[in-house]
Amino acid sequence: MMRVKKIGILIGSLRKESYNRKIAKHIMELATEGLDFKEIKIDNLPFYNEDLDKEKTPEAYLDFRKSILSLDAILFVTPEYNRSIPAVLKNALDVGSRPYGKSVWDLKPAAIISSSIGAIGGFGANHHLRQSLVFLNMPCLAQPEAYIGNASKLFDKAGKMINEDTDKFLNQFIISFSEWMERFQK
Ligand code: FNR
Repeated sequence: MMRVKKIGILIGSLRKESYNRKIAKHIMELATEGLDFKEIKIDNLPFYNEDLDKEKTPEAYLDFRKSILSLDAILFVTPEYNRSIPAVLKNALDVGSRPYGKSVWDLKPAAIISSSIGAIGGFGANHHLRQSLVFLNMPCLAQPEAYIGNASKLFDKAGKMINEDTDKFLNQFIISFSEWMERFQK
């Protein structure tokens, strides 16, 4: 039987009514066979400072690194802030990448969904994130790409996805991610 794969979702927005959070929630509810999604929180990580690792590593860093290590793959769902990724998400990447030589990201398969209320769907953030993932040695799904634009029009008042095309697209995206990550399982 196929082993269930554990996928951590990192959401680049902290706000309660975040469209990116709604997209992430929708994906968690798709119940794709063989995949177990859970959100990995990034809002409690102090800004990365090497001194903290040298003195006494904060519990929040240790817990975060441990939870990333326990995952089979990572899904990033992020808005675009000023044509790049939100600082909170960059901070999470930085925390996981240290101490030097002990990065928890190494060889973790990843996929990126960017989403924006604008028409470009967070293209700039999506590709800035890819730049860091190259350095972190994380193989990242290339196709399909996921730039979800006009995010404010995709949900009803209760936060439920009402756009059928986006729903179908996200379903297909996750199936592609699942098939692709098989190649990296040991
Ligand atoms: C934005 N927004 C934005 N949108 C975009 O398409 N490109 C951008 O560069 C930016 N820049 C930006 C900077 C900052 C500081 C904020 C707060 C917002 C708008 C953004 O798409 C919108 O606020 C989304 O709703 C953010 O995603 P969540 O929080 O809904 O997931």
